[in-house]
Amino acid sequence: MEHVTSSPWVGLAYLVAGVLFIMALRGLSSPGTSRAGNRYGMIGMTIAVATTLVTHSIASLPEIAVAIAIGGGIGFVIARRIQMTAMPQLVAAFHSLVGLAAVLVGLAAYANPGAFGILHQVPVENLLEAVIGNGGAPVGFVNEIEPQSRIEMGLGIAIGAITFSGSIIAFLKLAGKMSGAAILLPGRHVLNLGTLIAILGLVAWFTQDESAWVIATITVLSFAIGFLLIIPIGGADMPVVVSMLNSYSGWAAAAMGFTLHNTAMIVTGALVGSSGAILSYIMCKAMNRSFLSVIAGGFGAEATASGGAAKEQRPWKRGSAEDAAFLMKEAENVIIIPGYGMAVSQAQHVLREMADVLKANGVNVKYAIHPVAGRMPGHMNVLLAEANVPYDEVFELEDIQGDFAQADVAFVIGANDVVNPAAKTDKSSPIYGMPVFDVDKAKTIFFVKRSMGGVGYSGVDNDVFYMDQTMMLLADAKKMVEEIVKALQH
Ligand code: TAP
Repeated sequence: MEHVTSSPWVGLAYLVAGVLFIMALRGLSSPGTSRAGNRYGMIGMTIAVATTLVTHSIASLPEIAVAIAIGGGIGFVIARRIQMTAMPQLVAAFHSLVGLAAVLVGLAAYANPGAFGILHQVPVENLLEAVIGNGGAPVGFVNEIEPQSRIEMGLGIAIGAITFSGSIIAFLKLAGKMSGAAILLPGRHVLNLGTLIAILGLVAWFTQDESAWVIATITVLSFAIGFLLIIPIGGADMPVVVSMLNSYSGWAAAAMGFTLHNTAMIVTGALVGSSGAILSYIMCKAMNRSFLSVIAGGFGAEATASGGAAKEQRPWKRGSAEDAAFLMKEAENVIIIPGYGMAVSQAQHVLREMADVLKANGVNVKYAIHPVAGRMPGHMNVLLAEANVPYDEVFELEDIQGDFAQADVAFVIGANDVVNPAAKTDKSSPIYGMPVFDVDKAKTIFFVKRSMGGVGYSGVDNDVFYMDQTMMLLADAKKMVEEIVKALQH
C-alpha cells in the first residue's frame, strides 16, 4: 500500500471531513437540526472516502467497486427488510462487523507490515565483537515492525475482538436466540480482570517480541473476554450494553486508523468512541447503574438472577375504547407514555391523530419519554418524530415527572417496565433502582397492552395493573387507539 498522506491537501481534506463529522453530531443532538446533521455527516464521509481512494493504492478501483456493490447490496436488502423492533439486534450485529474488521486489519498489517509502511530497520551487531566490548559498526540490518505500530496493532486487535464477540452475544440475546437471563460463571470478576491484565501484559510484551504466538494469544484472549463480559449481563440492562459496544466499536475503528495511517478514521473512531461512552454514561444514570461496574461487566446480574415478583391473581378492571374516549375528552391534562408495544404495533400515527382530536377539544396533551423505553436509545423519539408529533409536546423523564400529580389521565401505551413502581420499592426486582414514571399519581390510568399475561422486557409483574384508578385496555395498541379515535369523533 502506497502512502501519500504527507500532502497538505490530504491533511486538509481529512480536517474538513473531521469538522463536518463534529457538526453532524452537533446537528443530531436535537430533532430540529438532525436532518442538517445527517447531511453534514454524509458530505464528510464522502470527502473522507474520496480522499482515501485517491491517495492510497489499496486495491484497484474495480475491486473496490465490487466490494462496495456486495456490501452495499447486502446492507440495502437488510435495511429494507428490517422491522423497526429488530433494530437493536441489527445495530449489535453491525458493531460486531466493525470489531471483526479491526481484527482483520490488524492481522493483515502484522502479516504484511511492508505494505502498511510500518517497518523500520534495526542494526545487527556482530555478536562476537559486541561480547568482547568492541561494538563498532553494525554488520547488517533487519526489518522489524515499529514498536509504536505494534502497540496500535495489539490494542486495535484486542478492542476489535472484544467488540466482535461481545456484540455477537448482545445480538443473540436481543434477538431472543439466546436466553436473556444472566449466565453467572463462578469467580467471573477475577477471571475477567485476570484476562484483561494478561491482554495488556501481552500488548506490552509484543513491543519487544513480534513473534506470532503473542499476537495470536492476544486475539484469542480478547475474543474470550468479549464473551465473558457480556454473558453475565441479563434482563433490562442490555440498553447500556448496546451503547457501550457502540463506543468500543468506535475505539476499534480509531485503532484501525492508526494502523492504516488514516487521520479521518482516527477522528471518526474517536468521535464514535467518545459519543458512545457519553451515551453509556447517560444511560447508566437513567438506569441508576454505576458506570464503572458496567465497564467491568456483569453489573445488575445478581438482581436479575434473583428474579422478579411472581405473577399474582389479583382483581383488575377492564376498560373500553369508549371509556377512554369519554374520560380523556373531559380531561384537562393527559400524559401519554409510549413504550415498546407502541413500536410493535406501529401505533404512533394513529396516536398522534388521537392527540390532535383531544387538543382540538381543549385538552392539554404531553408525551413522556423514558430514556430506555422501547428497545434502543431514542426509539420512541424517532417513532413520534416519524408521526410528526410536535417536539414541544415531547418531554423527558425529569422534565415531566412533576406533572403526573396534576394529570387527569396517564395513557400508558405499550410501555410496562418504565412505569413499574417495583423499581422504587422492591429490592429483589431486576429493575430496582431504575427511575420510573409516577403514573400512580394520575387520577386515572389507561394501560394499553394485549393481555394480562404479557410482561415487559424484564419479565416482572406490574402493580399498576391492579390499582384502583387503573383501567386495562386489552388489545393491540394500534387497534385500540383507532377505536378510541372513532369513539372520540362520535
Ligand atoms: P416493556 O417493559 O418491554 O413492555 C412492553 C409492553 O408492550 C408489554 O406490556 C406488552 O404487553 C406490550 N405490547 C407488546 N406488543 C404490543 C402490541 N402489539 N400492542 C399493545 N401492547 C403491546 O416496554 P418499555 O416500558 O418500553 O420498557 C423498555 C424495556 O426494554 C426496559 O426494561 C428496558 O431496559 C429494556 N430495553 C431497552 C432498550 C433501550 S435502549 N430502549 C434496549 C434493550 C432493552 P403484551 O405482551 O401483553 O401486549
